[in-house]
Amino acid sequence: MSLKVNNLSAGIGNLCILHDIDLKIEKGTLNVLMGPNGSGKSTFASVLMGNPKYKRVEKKPYLSLNGKDISNFEPHERAKCGLFLAFQNPSGIPGVSVANLLKTSYQTVQRSDNTPSKKSAHNPALSVFKFHQELVLTAERIGVPRDFLGRSLDGDFSGGEKKKLEMLQAIVLKPKYAVFDEIDTGLDVDALKTIAGAILELKKKGTGILVVTHYHRILEYAKPDVVHVLVKGRIVASGGCKLALEIEKNGYSKWSKSKN
Ligand SMILES: Nc1ncnc2c1ncn2[C@@H]1O[C@H](COP(=O)(O)OP(=O)(O)OP(=O)(O)O)[C@@H](O)[C@H]1O
Ligand SMILES: [Mg+2]
Repeated sequence: MSLKVNNLSAGIGNLCILHDIDLKIEKGTLNVLMGPNGSGKSTFASVLMGNPKYKRVEKKPYLSLNGKDISNFEPHERAKCGLFLAFQNPSGIPGVSVANLLKTSYQTVQRSDNTPSKKSAHNPALSVFKFHQELVLTAERIGVPRDFLGRSLDGDFSGGEKKKLEMLQAIVLKPKYAVFDEIDTGLDVDALKTIAGAILELKKKGTGILVVTHYHRILEYAKPDVVHVLVKGRIVASGGCKLALEIEKNGYSKWSKSKN
């Protein structure tokens, strides 16, 4: 069981940002993607989620989730299949409360899951009651104050608070595969530990995870299984934890000198 990217090249207009990317995220593993600013990490995350802004160079199948080809799926269809993206810069949605967004997306995703254990989610009354109970507990666990749940997603949350809310979404939606784009940026040290703990918890429950990060710091609390390095839109190295340490020490210069 895996999320598999096969020979992906993509960009905007005539600009090709990603080149020939092959990458596999196994169920229940923690994968990390590192790379210099502008190397294409967020573009990669967006393409995985099906952002129509980016065009593929070739229209061949490039993405499968547990063996199912989802290359031509819309973003909401990918979400229903169990794919989740936490944005580097989450957008505000004025007039929509955190709780409402979470409840609606939870119900939508659960309704499309036909496994017997999810049958209770088809009963709206039961799901709303259980959902709120769980939401309050989960929010508390990752340091999201209860009153945040009633607040509008209008962009007035602080940088770190937005990251915690992204993580809250991931925990609530229980995705099969989750991509966290710089979830550690701007977090205080306690929040960093909490977020790392939440990542490990998701992993334990079987979610395949891709964390995009610039820093080794979060990896001290959540040890990755695989580290990939993206430079100028290409995967130039893959390895274990040591690779992230090496980057912390020496940067990307040894790969940046390579051809475009
Ligand atoms: N609409 C666009 N028009 C032109 N160039 C774009 C557009 N969108 C993205 N790019 C370029 O694509 C490249 C990759 O951007 P991307 O945001 O994926 O980088 P990143 O690796 O996530 O960087 P960072 O670490 O700073 O978040 C950048 O050089 C960016 O300027
Ligand atoms: Mg980015």
